Amino acid sequence: MNITRIRNTDMVRGKAICKSGPNNNKVDDIRQFSMKEVALHSDHHSCWLVIKDFVYDVTSFVSEHPGGWEMIMERAGTDATNPFEGKGHSDDALKLLAGFKIGQLIRSERLEKG
Ligand code: HEM
Repeated sequence: MNITRIRNTDMVRGKAICKSGPNNNKVDDIRQFSMKEVALHSDHHSCWLVIKDFVYDVTSFVSEHPGGWEMIMERAGTDATNPFEGKGHSDDALKLLAGFKIGQLIRSERLEKG
């Protein structure tokens, strides 16, 4: 799967969650975090990642990661968009990731400001 397809899939998923989710949530209704807050979660007790402006708590997944726990821990508390996409994860990995979503970056820190 190429990166463009992953991006498109994510955008479609983002819209589905934000505009036609069960509670009719808007983007801003989900919890907002700054990179400073994300950076506080950078060890095996609490491991958060930012991927494409969304925040994921992957603490429980670190030791299960097929690519090894080091791959994730090296990026704990940071924006891991490039390493995550650069590896070319499967659709299954993207679905798994969606289950760990806990929020979104505050607007001023998003790559995509929309
Ligand atoms: C922090 C950035 C990440 C990097 C650099 C990374 C890197 C890798 C690498 C190198 C592999 C290949 C393992 C192998 O086949 O030898 C892999 C596999 C995998 N990773 Fe990650 N990973 C990251 C984060 C994640 C996250 C957050 C998830 C999901 C919550 C995830 C889910 C998977 C899955 C399911 C596989 C198995 C192959 C696949 O389905 O694509 N990874 N990862």
